[in-house]
Amino acid sequence: MFESLQARPTDAIMALMQLAKADNSPNKIDLGVGVYKTDDGATPIMKAVNLASARNLETEDTKSYVSTIGNADFRKHMLELIFGADYAPLQEGRIASAQATGGSGALRLGAELIWSAGGDAAVWVPTPTWANHSPLIGSVGPEIKQYPYYNKTTLGVDFDDMLTCLKDNANPGDVVVLHGCCHNPTGADLSKEEWDILAPFLRDNDLIPFVDLAYFGLGHGIEDDTYGLRLVGTTCPETIMAASCSKNFALYKERVGLVAAITNSSEQAGLVQGQFGALQRRLTSMPPDHGAALVATILGDDELRKVWSDELDEMRGRMRALRQQLSDALRVQGAELIADAVVNQNGMFSMLPLSVEQITALRERHSIYMMNSGRLNIAGANSGNIPHLANAILDVL
Ligand code: LMR
Repeated sequence: MFESLQARPTDAIMALMQLAKADNSPNKIDLGVGVYKTDDGATPIMKAVNLASARNLETEDTKSYVSTIGNADFRKHMLELIFGADYAPLQEGRIASAQATGGSGALRLGAELIWSAGGDAAVWVPTPTWANHSPLIGSVGPEIKQYPYYNKTTLGVDFDDMLTCLKDNANPGDVVVLHGCCHNPTGADLSKEEWDILAPFLRDNDLIPFVDLAYFGLGHGIEDDTYGLRLVGTTCPETIMAASCSKNFALYKERVGLVAAITNSSEQAGLVQGQFGALQRRLTSMPPDHGAALVATILGDDELRKVWSDELDEMRGRMRALRQQLSDALRVQGAELIADAVVNQNGMFSMLPLSVEQITALRERHSIYMMNSGRLNIAGANSGNIPHLANAILDVL
């Protein structure tokens, strides 16, 4: 049986992670995988997570199964965090949700829901998008189509082209994947004004938003980073959302995520919730509880919640400061556009207009690792090595 298998191409993000790990140069700057790092290159456990861990260890008295839709406290606190406790669809019981195995598990459950609903809805993703979006969603069944998003010349969002493409080509009932904030891989987000146009556009064209909220809290803060999601959720009759706790709780390996669907009525929400449970049962039976229980403990306790949100603010502030520093260092004649983009983009990523040759030169000449697409993770730099990074970028440019 196994002889018939073909080798699969290695995932580019995972391959770069290994390549950077193997480089022992003291000048190495790893701007690859989307993981937050401190100034000394560590990805520490957040303080609130350590405190919640100690507390849960004391109180946890069973390892028995939880449920196919996961930890109920986690779902409740996460929904309130993401949407706000007074969000109308939440108050009206119109949101179905399930804990998922990371943000990827949430995307998978969302895709399974779309496919289960039958019909021939295509799923539209931005160009470019997170490298795993199309494989992850497409392997469930729906056809994947692409809409223009990032312009590598202006280093901004091609909003008009995005709307024109969807207007001319998407069919009623199609699903549109949107990055709620901190667009991966470009860092170029829709402005509030653009969300204000997009939300009624989606409703009027009968398109269903599927919002990926992998980095919320790391752009401008929870409220701002969920603006678009909350808006489409009250404008469009149906919305799907996949959230991750990998980055904002630094719980990467614990695989903590949440899928949610805003529906027309509480009856429909009950039905969709049942679907989520059944879909998860058939995929992995149940999501792991450990990380979700940590998040539930943190969000359910005022003191721990404050410790967490203060540290999240610090992380966001550090990335903003690094963006500013890199932007200042790049602000020389001819590189102004890049300097502007770096400081204006959000979250961990920016996408620089570099060729594969230039990126290879960065790696080979300067031990600087970034994706061949030009995506860099600003959190991988530090205040000490930004001058080296800026000089190297200017050198290959
Ligand atoms: C990334 O884009 O680097 C992260 O989301 C990690 C991953 O799984 O790809």
